[in-house]
This record gives sequence, C-alpha cells and structure tokens, in this order.
Amino acid sequence: MGYDSTNISPLSTNISVINSGLNYLIIKLLSYIMLMEGIGYYKGKTNMTVTNLKEICEQAMEVGTKIDLSDCPYGETTGSCYFVKRPTNYYFFLAGLVRLQRLTHIVEIGTNYGGSIMSMSKGIYKDDIENSRLVTVDIIRKNNEGFKKYPHIKRIYGDSLKEDVARKIVGSFDKKIDLIYIDSVHEYNHTRENIYTYAAKLSPRYVVLDDIRQCDDMIRLWCELVEEFGNNAFDASDISIRKGAGFGVIRWR
Ligand SMILES: C[S@@+](CC[C@H](N)C(=O)[O-])C[C@H]1O[C@@H](n2cnc3c(N)ncnc32)[C@H](O)[C@@H]1O
Repeated sequence: MGYDSTNISPLSTNISVINSGLNYLIIKLLSYIMLMEGIGYYKGKTNMTVTNLKEICEQAMEVGTKIDLSDCPYGETTGSCYFVKRPTNYYFFLAGLVRLQRLTHIVEIGTNYGGSIMSMSKGIYKDDIENSRLVTVDIIRKNNEGFKKYPHIKRIYGDSLKEDVARKIVGSFDKKIDLIYIDSVHEYNHTRENIYTYAAKLSPRYVVLDDIRQCDDMIRLWCELVEEFGNNAFDASDISIRKGAGFGVIRWR
C-alpha cells in the first residue's frame, strides 16, 4: 500500500508535533551537556597543575603517616614545652613526600634537634640510602647522640647565608637536587635569601617552607612566591596539619 499524504489524521498530526517538540528538547539537552563538558574540560586543563601538586601533597601525608617516626622527636623548643618527645605533624608530610616522590638528594636549612632531617631520611627507601645525600645546616649543634644512628646525614655547622658555609653545602652535590627544606629564621629577607641562594645553585625539584603563616613577613613572602610560581606553589598547611604556622610547597622545576 502506497503512502497518501492527504490521508493524515488529526491524531498523527498531534503525534508529529509531540515528536518534533521532543526532538527539540533532546537536541537542547545534548548541546547543554556538550557545553558543560567543554567548560569542565577547560577548567580541568587550567587547574591541572594545581590539582596535581595538591594531590601529591595529599598523597605525601597519606604515605607519611604510615612511616614509623617514633624515634624522631622534635626536641628542645623555645615555647612553653621545654622538650617535645614526639615527631610533629609535618615530619610525616616530609617523610611521605620523600618516599612518594623518591627524593634522595636533600638540603635542610635549620637542623635544631634533627627531627625533620631524620624524618626525611626515614622516607628514603632502604636501597636508595647508599646513593642518597642529605645535608643539614645550623648555627648550633644539638643531639649528637641521636645523629649517631644516621651516619649518612652530613651536618654542617654555621650560618647558611655565609659564603663559606654555602660553598660547603653546594659543594656536597654534583648534580641537581630533589628538595630544599627551609626552616631557620622566619624573616622575609633571611628566608628569601636562603631560597634564592640555594635554589639557584642546586636547582631542586621542590622547595618546602615552614611557617609561611607565622608572621606578616612570611605571609608577604609566600604571596610573592605564589605570584611567581602560580599553580606550582601550594599551601599545604591544612594537609600537613600545620594550619597555624603554615607550610608551603613549591615545585621549582
Ligand atoms: C625552627 S628550628 C628548626 C627545626 C627543625 N627543622 C625541625 O623541624 O625539627 C630553626 C633552626 O634554625 C637555626 N638557624 C637560625 N639561623 C640560622 C642560620 N643563619 N643558618 C643556619 N641555621 C640557622 C636555629 O639555630 C634553629 O635550630
């Protein structure tokens, strides 16, 4: 039987109106979904680096909390508690970052009792210890007994901003390093000078700064670093459970 276009009932007219209405709605819905996906894609692209560094920090803390740091005490403090016998929260972050990113060549400015450099050492895989290079500097020398268990950690005594000391630290390495952890005097010029003296010469993958929220000086410095490094500077204070004093991570290269 052939198709007779003159024989269209009112019912079929209604159905075709409904069909074209539905088609219109479906097309609209599909375009909306595509638009949203497009926005999401570009948002994802622009935020990709920040998400990655944030993810690295989150994973670092997760990995770090599984590492036994019970023999890495913070030690003597200038605060109300004279001696802290346990590791502080950010030690787990540092140990986790070292383990997660397999960092082996590390400089620390500000040793104090040695808890933080010992924690970073605990993050190094056993097989990597022999080829690792850990250097820490301070103007004071504490906890000689505790350091006996870490013969691979090189301790340098002196002011990190003095030329001869900087030469000793930089001369301890023959290639680009993995991490510079800066935790000495929390003043703008002092911290900035440490960053640029050592990062320029040692080209680390990461620079980690303690106390980025501690005072106006450090807040100003951190803001400048965020401006300079954009998505490669991440405030990890919350993740490392250091909300008050602050903790910042920069992906230097
Ligand atoms: C906050 S403590 C370091 C704490 C240690 N990083 C930890 O987390 O266990 C700061 C240390 O920086 C040291 N320091 C201060 N000025 C320094 C300088 N110019 N060069 C090297 N170390 C310095 C202090 O003697 C002190 O031991």
